[in-house]
Order: sequence, then structure tokens, then C-alpha cells
Amino acid sequence: MKLTKILIASAIALTSFAATAANNSDKAKMDKFIDDLMGKMTLQEKLGQLNLPVTGEIVTGQAKSSDVASRIRQGQVGGLFNLKGVERIKDVQKIAVEESRLGIPLLFGMDVIHGYETVFPIPLALSCTWDMEAVELSARIAARECSADGINWTFSPMLDVCHDARWGRVSEGNGEDPYLGARIAEAMVRGYQGNLKNNDEILACVKHFALYGAPEAGRDYNTVDMSHWRMYNDYFPPYKAAIEAGAQSVMASFNIVDGIPATGNRWLLTDVLRNQWGFDGFVVSDYTGIFEMIAHGMGDLQQVGALALRAGLDMDMVSDAFVGTLEKSLKDGMVSQADIDTACRRILEAKYRLGLFDNPYKYCDTKRPAKEVFTAENRAEARRIARESFVLLKNEGNLLPLRKTGKIALVGPLANTRANMPGTWSVAAVSDKYSTLLEGFRAAVGSNAEVLYAKGCNLMYDAAREADATMFGREMRDSRSNEEMLREALDVAAKADVIVAALGESSEMSGESSSRTNLEMPDAQRDLLKALLATGKPVVLLHFAGRPTVLTWENENVPAILNVWFGGSETADAVPDVVFGDYAPCGKLTTSFPRTVGQCPMSYNEYNTGRPQAKWFTKFTTSYLDSPNEPLYPFGFGLSYTNFDYSDLTLDKSEMTETGTITATVTVTNNGNYDGVEVVQLYIRDLVGSVVRPVKELKDFSRISLRKGESRTVSFTINAEKLKFYNSQLEYVCEPGEFQVMVGPNSRDVKTKTFTLK
Ligand code: BGC
Repeated sequence: MKLTKILIASAIALTSFAATAANNSDKAKMDKFIDDLMGKMTLQEKLGQLNLPVTGEIVTGQAKSSDVASRIRQGQVGGLFNLKGVERIKDVQKIAVEESRLGIPLLFGMDVIHGYETVFPIPLALSCTWDMEAVELSARIAARECSADGINWTFSPMLDVCHDARWGRVSEGNGEDPYLGARIAEAMVRGYQGNLKNNDEILACVKHFALYGAPEAGRDYNTVDMSHWRMYNDYFPPYKAAIEAGAQSVMASFNIVDGIPATGNRWLLTDVLRNQWGFDGFVVSDYTGIFEMIAHGMGDLQQVGALALRAGLDMDMVSDAFVGTLEKSLKDGMVSQADIDTACRRILEAKYRLGLFDNPYKYCDTKRPAKEVFTAENRAEARRIARESFVLLKNEGNLLPLRKTGKIALVGPLANTRANMPGTWSVAAVSDKYSTLLEGFRAAVGSNAEVLYAKGCNLMYDAAREADATMFGREMRDSRSNEEMLREALDVAAKADVIVAALGESSEMSGESSSRTNLEMPDAQRDLLKALLATGKPVVLLHFAGRPTVLTWENENVPAILNVWFGGSETADAVPDVVFGDYAPCGKLTTSFPRTVGQCPMSYNEYNTGRPQAKWFTKFTTSYLDSPNEPLYPFGFGLSYTNFDYSDLTLDKSEMTETGTITATVTVTNNGNYDGVEVVQLYIRDLVGSVVRPVKELKDFSRISLRKGESRTVSFTINAEKLKFYNSQLEYVCEPGEFQVMVGPNSRDVKTKTFTLK
């Protein structure tokens, strides 16, 4: 026995020694290759590697277009982004390889945020699956599809923790929790990058570094200001986890950090990212991020270009600051040759690691798209994952699931649109290939039931506002009068046994530059909903949203609410899967739904204050006069068609040491009428600390499938890691004392036990 152990241990030691030796020799080989190459490069060619202009149709800012091909020939371009199509990419790569002096291949980037042509739910929705295998698989499939079409670098995962539903880009992140965000970060990086060996494994890009999700007033690009203590505890963990998982690139955010734009912030890009976290990839700016430092008031283009390079930013997306000004800055002594060489080396290393120097056409196999993009298998996974992401918020009298019989009125501006199904930031989506909800419902019920349809209203009464909210050709306005549309909807409703109202946000009402100060359902849709409810027929609200919206009125007045976010290319089939009970909903919120926009920002893992509120309203406690503090739907919340009972929580010990563990156990029973999936959540509270500690923090979870009638015992191991935090010196420590352990189906309804860390 002992001998076996020793043999295994020495085998492991030898293997890891061999792996380290191999890594060292790989590194030496790479260094030598890059030294040789850089030895041949002119200054302008080095600066060219730092340049990332945009091509193609997709433009998010004010792009200046120029003759990209001739710039590539002159070695003035390191990569391109948002060019779609393997044939086109191959042609461009050919120019770089065959027509530029040194033949250095290009990186081809794209915002492949939640899938390529097979589109998965928007990231916020995906996070509500709490299914790390699904998250990783979605990134794997996205990488497979986009790499088949020539892309070798995605600008994902987006890991900005956000507490503020007003911010439109909450749709692209993973909600409000740093622990869950960190697990998702690792899964995404694994899914995209794999081992970075095969031609379906691509570079990930961690963004937006850092704190982009905390703009004041929830207004996009606005000032961010927070203590380092808060950054390290509440906002940094997902980025750090992605770096530790091996992410090879990072995008600097638009916002300021400690008064300096992230793009030019040396503390952030060098001290934290490289020196503290050991990042060894490259940093790219966000779109015109360097140029925007002029408006921030950091100087002219030459000054901000030099500032960014010195800070540790390696690649310039669209600003033309590096190619345009660094030669002069070198002469003027504003940057050093070493600064330029370091950045150039990092870009070349990324290309080397991708294998582009061995085979620049590694990602240009023109036969792949037909076999690998938008395949039946990929779509089946996207449909499965979409239905896992829907969150059942209310289901009075078990109105859902519906039966596939009789007449169903499907009503609303989201019921018969194709372009809105994939959701925001689905750059490669081909909406012609996707179905509308109406088509999906009709296919699901077949000849057993009749699905009647009426649009009912436009998205909003105000045409100009609606146009602003539906950019990128997703305009969906109906020219009929409000009255005419309502009349049609009520006629249809009168004929039906049940009404399904597909309402909420259009896909571009969230995402970049889509902040909102009013999170209620747009007026035209609320009026339609009221009219539908007034018919007295049962109404199910299918709520489309890219953010937590305010559903206080709907929660009081509508019997059933299924929040479907934006479910991706397969939404139209995934929604009926759940509505008709072929699959019981199991999504759980990863972001609190406020009762009123005035509560924003909010998050479940808040600090207690010196005047905690015991009950609303109590004067001189931390309160609002006109609203409880609690959210409408808490973090972790989501119903199913079945019921899960939780036994009492037990701990195997009441004390532990820093090297020990405690096991927390509950038994969960499915005592309803459907098979279902439950996400059992573990929260911990550190009752006394050298700094204040949150009222609860998610520390683990277990996603379990239970057949009806089945019970399962779920155990969580609590170790020192789960008790650690950053103290006022930013040391990562745990402190002796009392801790509460909480387990439950969401962050509100928990069972609690206490233990002591000695
Ligand atoms: C966004 C990034 C995106 C980039 C390139 C920017 O506007 O902030 O998330 O990757 O554009 O499209």
C-alpha cells in the first residue's frame, strides 16, 4: 500500500518535472524564434503589430476607415476584427503572409460573446443556468463555429460584476456575484481556449478590465470610483479567476479607475494584472479606448498613446495612436524602445501560441463552415441550454405549464420577430435562419391546438425612442394606430382559452450604450397587458429582458411570469419546451430584481451598516420611506413546476481550524409532480472581522436533478479558502471567530447554522 503510494507520488513528480521541463524548452524555443524575428523588424513594423483596426460591417464607435489592405502590406497591422467569413479572412491573411515584408500572420478577432451563428442565451441568462458544464460547452461550441469561419480570437468572456440594473451591459455579464462570476470565468476560458493547440481552440479576452460594471448612476462609460478593498473583494475575483485559468488576452475598460482611465492605468494593467496575478498574455484597448483618453482630459493623441503603452497596454484597437504617434514619442523620450519591444513581443507570443507561425492558415480551412457552423447538434445544445436559463418568477394556481389543446392567443411585440431572438451582442447571428416565437409555438402544438396571433402594440408609444432602442436594423415598428392594434389583440384574445403575452425589452434595449432610468415595462406594452388582463382570461407573461427590470406591477397583477431573457437562436423552440411542460423551468436569478429603480444599485451581498433595518419602515435605520430594502425577486431565486423541500441543515462539527474543514449537509426532496433541477446554494457570513463583512456571500452551489419523489443529500465542504477575504491591507486572510452557514434554494430562504474558526 505504502509502496504503491510512493510509486504514484514519484510518477506524479516525474510527470510534472517532465511537463515543467517541456514548458521551459517550449518557452526557450518561442523566445528564440521571437528574438530572431524582432531582430529583423523595423520600428514601424513593430508598431504595426500593436495596431488593431476594424474591418467589416460591425462598427460600435466612430471608425475611421482606410485602405486596410495596403496597411497590411506595409506591416502596419497586427490584427483585424469583426471580419466575417473564412474565405475573406483567408484572402486577408494571404496578404499579410505573402505580401508583407516579414509575412507575419494576423490575429482575427470578433465579439463572439454568446455563440456564433448558433447563438446561446445572453450571458446574464446563461449565468442563470448555474450549469458550469453548459457554460463551458457554449464557449466550446462558439469557439468551434467561429474558428471554422476564420476567427482565432474572441472578445469574451465579459466579467464585469454589476449591481445596477440601469446599466445596459448587465446583459453581457454574469450578474452580481463575484464567486459565481469566477466559476463562470474559468468555464468560459476553458471552453474557448482548451489547450490552444487545435484549430478549434481560440484566444479568450477577459473584459472589461476593470470595474466597467460599476459606473455611477448606471450610465454607460460613466465615472467609476471605489476603494481597493471593494475592488479586491467584490469586483476583481472573476477577472483574476480567468487569468488563473490561463486567459491569454485582456481588454482594458473605458472607465476610470482611481481617477485614471483603465487604458492608461499602470497600477491596474501592470501592478495588479501582471505583477500580482502573473498574467503573461497581452492587453488590448477597447474600441478607440486610447483616443477617448483625450476626452477624458489626459492629453493629446501622442500623450495618451504614450501613457497607454507605459501603463502596459499592448494593442491599440482603432485609435491609430500607437502606429501614428509612438515613433515620435520614442524620439521625444516619452516611451522607451523597451516599452515598444515588450508590447510587440507579447503580440507575437500570442500568435506563436496560437500556432500561426507554423501555419498561418490554421483557422482558414474553407471546408469547415459547412460542417461545423449552425449544425443540428450545436442547435440542439443551444436549445437545451436556453430552456435551462429561463426563470419562472411567479406561477399562481399552477397556470403553467399550459396544455397543448384549445386556442392560445400569442400577443405582443416580441411574439413575431426574428431579429430580436438572439439578443444583444450577437454579431455573427443570421436571424433569417431563426424562427419567431409564433412559429415555435405553432410547431410545438401541431394540430392539437390553435395558436392565434396579434402584435397588440408597438414596443413603445414614442416612435423616436423606439428607433433609438432598436438600432442595428432591429426596427420593428408597426405603422397601424395604437387603437387598431389593440382592437386586433382583443379580438384574438376573445377567441382564446389562454393568453400568452410576449412583452418586455427588445434586444437592443440592453447591451452597450443602452442604460435606462426607468425600468418599468414600456407604457404601450403595460397598457396592452392591462387590457389583456381585463378580459378575465388567464394571462401568462413571457418576459423578454436583457437586464433585471422592475416587475412590481406585473408581480401583483399577472398570474404567471416566465422570464426568458434573450435565449439565442433557438429561443422560439426552447420557450414552448418550457411553457408546455416538456421541460420544467430551473433557472435561478444571478441578479436581484429591484422593486423600483430607486433601489439601484443593489446586491444581496451587501454590508450591514451600523443601523440595519429589522423591518420596514423604521425611522433611523437604513431604509427608504417609500420602499422596502429587499428586492422583488432575490438573488438565487427561481421557481419550478415541482417543489423542493429542504431538510434542516447540519454541520458535522461546530469548530474548525485553518487547516481543517467542516461539512454542511442538507437533504433535498422533490415532492411535486414533475422531474426537476434544483440549485442548492451555500452562503457564509463572517460575523466579526477586522473589516466589515457582507451579510452573506455565495460560497458554493450544487445543481442537482431530482425525479419526482426523489431525495438527495447534498454536502458542502467548508475550508479556509471559503472564509478568506481581503483585509484593509489587501492581504487575503481568514480570521478566527464565528461564522454563519446558510443553505437554501435562493439567497433569502435559507437554513442557518453557526460554527467557530479557531
Ligand atoms: C465594446 C467591447 C467590444 C468592442 C469591439 C466596444 O464598444 O465595449 O466590448 O469588444 O467594442 O467590438
